[in-house]
Amino acid sequence: MNTTGIYIHIPFCKSKCIYCDFYSVAGQDNKIEIFVNALIREIETCPVDTTKWTFDTIFIGGGTPSLLNAQQMEKIISTLDDKYDLNKIIEFTIEANPGEARKEKLKEFYSLGINRLSIGVQSFKSELLQFLSRIHSSDDVFRTFQSARDAGFENINCDLIYNIPGQSLEDWRFDLNTLVNLNPEHISAYSLTVEQGTKLFELLQNKSILMAPEKLHEHFNTLTLSTLTKNNYNQYEISNYSIPNKECLHNLHYWKNDFYLGFGPSAHSYDGKKRWNNFSNLDKYIALLENGKSSIETFDDITEIKRINEIIGFGLRMTNGFKISRIPSNLSNQFQKQLKQTQIKFPKMIIKENNRIKLIQKGMNFADTIAMEMMLS
Ligand SMILES: C[S@@+](CC[C@H](N)C(=O)[O-])C[C@H]1O[C@@H](n2cnc3c(N)ncnc32)[C@H](O)[C@@H]1O
Ligand code: SF4
Repeated sequence: MNTTGIYIHIPFCKSKCIYCDFYSVAGQDNKIEIFVNALIREIETCPVDTTKWTFDTIFIGGGTPSLLNAQQMEKIISTLDDKYDLNKIIEFTIEANPGEARKEKLKEFYSLGINRLSIGVQSFKSELLQFLSRIHSSDDVFRTFQSARDAGFENINCDLIYNIPGQSLEDWRFDLNTLVNLNPEHISAYSLTVEQGTKLFELLQNKSILMAPEKLHEHFNTLTLSTLTKNNYNQYEISNYSIPNKECLHNLHYWKNDFYLGFGPSAHSYDGKKRWNNFSNLDKYIALLENGKSSIETFDDITEIKRINEIIGFGLRMTNGFKISRIPSNLSNQFQKQLKQTQIKFPKMIIKENNRIKLIQKGMNFADTIAMEMMLS
């Protein structure tokens, strides 16, 4: 049996943030209802044979899933329930933007079985929120967090972003400490990435703004780790920290190379042999499903080498690393050779223990570079 997760992508936002390249549309809330009908059709007609899969996580992300009302959410969940066995679901997450999820709605979501809330805090500093073009305030964060607790959520994640142009280490310390004082069970601390096609990318190209120098980036990383560790948050992946037993099981599925099903525009799915993704276009997605057609845009064959390289790439980003036994015996010699070479290039960074390969703390800063070196060709 493969333990797996279900992802649902809700592509609506009140406004588009300058840094975000996740697929979402702003100002089209009038299409939510027809989108939900299309999504239901996609779930109902999904042809993947999942008889040997056990689903233990659901993640409704976006976009801004909290823009849906409880009736729409209920329709989606009952469609999933009709199609799949949801009895083993232990973690059911929904993403919400601060100020865009009122207590009553959160209560309704909670009563539908959603037991984890992920709040996009990003920062508590108004000038940084403004730079990121976020439309919420720090007061909205406090209110939404309290509403979530009042609604019954005992498992809350908050996302923060650092390495923002103009952000000082003191600003970042303030954000980390303010969040820690709220006591969320989980914290994702993401370094701001610049993605092609975003407004942020344009601003950097025009030289209107500059990203922080590499040295400062390292200081941000060190401050993140020391502040969160001191406050009993355990780093289990480069950007992810939690109190004991509250790691995000859904994201762990991705990082452990488990199977998953994704529904909604731009969503990906993976069955161990291939990965496929839906069109990142709301109108096309709706039209295809309304006409009884598939919403899939591309299929990608995952060869054995590709799969192993993904295990290495994601694995080294987790503090626990990956199991050596996941490398099949026919590729074992090649892997050992790569491992040796990588150990020479990055001395004392790689640990081999209990049938696992992982990085020492300092090595986590270079996880992607080390992984590239270790990958098979
Ligand atoms: C795609 S959003 C969806 C959830 C919700 N709409 C929100 O904004 O919080 C999920 C998270 O991705 C992170 N994110 C998106 N783009 C990013 C970027 N370019 N760099 C770093 N983090 C990013 C943000 O922290 C955000 O909370
Ligand atoms: S960061 Fe969140 S709110 Fe902003 S555009 Fe992306 S999905 Fe929408």
